[in-house]
Amino acid sequence: MAYAAFRSIGAYVPEKILTNEDLSKMVDTTDEWITKRTGIKERHIASKDETTSDMGVKAAQQAIERSGIDKSEIDMIICATISPDYFCMPSTATVIANKLSLGYVTAFDISAACTGFVYILSIAKAFIESGMKKNILIVGAEKLSAITDYTDRGTCILFGDGAGAAVISATENKEEAIIDIHTGSDGAYADLLMTPNGGSGSAHDALEQESAGCFMQMKGNETFKVAVRTLTKDVVEILEANNIESSQITHFVPHQANLRIIKAVGEALKLDEKQVVLTVEKYGNTSGASIPMAINDVYESGSLKAGELMLLDAFGGGLTWGSALVPFSPLK
Ligand code: ACO
Repeated sequence: MAYAAFRSIGAYVPEKILTNEDLSKMVDTTDEWITKRTGIKERHIASKDETTSDMGVKAAQQAIERSGIDKSEIDMIICATISPDYFCMPSTATVIANKLSLGYVTAFDISAACTGFVYILSIAKAFIESGMKKNILIVGAEKLSAITDYTDRGTCILFGDGAGAAVISATENKEEAIIDIHTGSDGAYADLLMTPNGGSGSAHDALEQESAGCFMQMKGNETFKVAVRTLTKDVVEILEANNIESSQITHFVPHQANLRIIKAVGEALKLDEKQVVLTVEKYGNTSGASIPMAINDVYESGSLKAGELMLLDAFGGGLTWGSALVPFSPLK
């Protein structure tokens, strides 16, 4: 039987930094409020002509290089994004595949907001375990600044841009295998976090009216409560289902939305601070890119070793959620 192994990680962060101080000159807010309520100090913003695929390509190049797998062996690419290069088509995955000269690989995007990376990891695992694919490039990439309303202080303080990528490949060694992935959704909460206009319900209206409805809108406080509840339930369930204690997790990598949400989940799981990966302070919320960007930070700090167990946990618009138990299994 083929198992799926998490071989490598890569990430890209755009150069320009938008600080809380900068935002306080754009909307009625303060560094103190943002820091206290979210833990965010700054976020990176892509340049005007830098697209989601441009960032995804840079993250992917690093992940492929670190995987030790030749790019000609990649047979599928999946991109998780809510800020694709193009509204309907082509998919950002096909754009990235072309820019990387990956050839005629299977390529598609998925939309699961901040849970996107856990969703594409689960799809990669399923394709590999079924024997249909051998080496899959998964990319979480977001230019959220393009869909952020910089007059809305309730959302614009949260979001940043960036990309992260990983190579998942087939192995016969069960010790290397991704252990389990749980994913779910509840569309009854769709209105908590959405871009209301521009879809099939209002495509023509959006062209005629102002474009504000194409920006993200969020009922932050209600989302916050569902996030804490769902994220905690999710990780407890996946640990119990696999008979794994939270003390066996070396790196808990939650979606980086809000420091208070992460702390609440960490405390519910009785995790030591050392186990919890935090990047929200410097990147803000980068949606589908947040988890791979966070894993990359751990990797580049030299703290991610072969065989160590990661617990990924995400929550986002949809509403969607997901968790994954993933040993780091590099080839070299
Ligand atoms: N600066 C100053 N005051 C502000 C700001 C700001 N930037 N934003 C809101 N306020 C005010 C509000 O107007 C409100 O004022 P009022 O009491 O006079 O009405 C007050 O602060 C409290 O507002 P809340 O919305 O209750 O603030 P809260 O503590 O909930 O923090 C936040 C807001 C940071 C958005 C939080 O709710 C949050 O992080 N929510 C979850 C986000 C999340 O996880 N989203 C899912 C993933 S994202 C994705 O999928 C793309």
